[in-house]
Amino acid sequence: MMFPAWPPQWPEITESILRSVRRGDWGRYRGEATAALQEQIAQQVGCRHVRLVSSGSLGVELALRAVGVAPGQQVALCGYDYPGNFRAIELLGARPVLVDADPTSHSIDPQALQRLWQDAGTKHAVKAVVVSHLYGVPAPIRRLRELCDHADWALIEDACQTPGMQIDGRPAGAWGDVGVFSFGGSKPLTAGNGGAVLTDRDPIASRLNAWLDRPSDSAPMSELQAAALLPQLDRLAECNQIRSETVSAITAGVDWIRQATADGQPTPPATFYKFAFLCERRDAMLETLRRAGLPVGPGYRSMHRSSDRRCDKVGPLDRCRLLGEQLCLLDHSALLATGPLRTQLVQRLSEASPY
Ligand SMILES: Cc1ncc(COP(=O)(O)O)c(C=O)c1O
Repeated sequence: MMFPAWPPQWPEITESILRSVRRGDWGRYRGEATAALQEQIAQQVGCRHVRLVSSGSLGVELALRAVGVAPGQQVALCGYDYPGNFRAIELLGARPVLVDADPTSHSIDPQALQRLWQDAGTKHAVKAVVVSHLYGVPAPIRRLRELCDHADWALIEDACQTPGMQIDGRPAGAWGDVGVFSFGGSKPLTAGNGGAVLTDRDPIASRLNAWLDRPSDSAPMSELQAAALLPQLDRLAECNQIRSETVSAITAGVDWIRQATADGQPTPPATFYKFAFLCERRDAMLETLRRAGLPVGPGYRSMHRSSDRRCDKVGPLDRCRLLGEQLCLLDHSALLATGPLRTQLVQRLSEASPY
């Protein structure tokens, strides 16, 4: 099946890059595109401080540093998450604490985080919590924010996959003490590489600036990357809407997929990056779907088996194990299908039923 090209081959992206070249900004430390991108992100997310950085991975590490995570302290994260978040915690000399996943979102389960809080003070010295919105489905962020406030833990909101998502009327990235976006090659806004770190808190912004400005920016995004992103930001809401409609068509038209998601529980309103679904015989299923011409792959490996030398765990992390074994992803290029292509996509998925 011929899905829309990725990265997007829009003339306005080429034109924006060419404008930057003509201005000579391609060869400057800073130019119009980076300044405009920074300002537009700050406006859309409603955060006063935005730093463009070289990747989302580094963005999470800088966020952890900026909220004051120090060697020996603990940082909680979901046992099913982008593996680089675990590494970022380790790289700071801190200790990851793995928490089970929530049945409706693939992110941290608030009840499991509450158990961690009940243990805190006796067994734990938690400083911060990393919460990722995965595959476009929002984490239960309001509840997690309340818990972090109550426990006096910093909240790092990893919104790398979900720029433009609104949760209870507030943009993803604005719920955390620090929010992080990625502009990596697979992301809804892509510059091949790049990211952004956002905060509304002046002391956190000062610390970020102190690390990054030496006085050259030590982890910059280039003008050409920013120029490529600006037209995509203009059309983000439109593309998010298309992806969301494709997912609605899939969940309405493919019975077996609806059964497999989120234990049958309703998911909150979503802005989709990739579409995640569960399948018990995953390898066979992925092979069938690939043969049908569908761009699919497995999700992350679960971290439930990580060595006790490297991390602590809250409970047996059963949900993380299940996600690690069964989660399949339909690529975002397929989610941009419209019209007859979308109908064909739904039909092929339907025909591939494992039940
Ligand atoms: C949830 C999440 N966090 C962080 C990252 C890291 O972003 P980057 O690839 O820009 O380093 C990714 C990238 O896949 C991600 O999906």
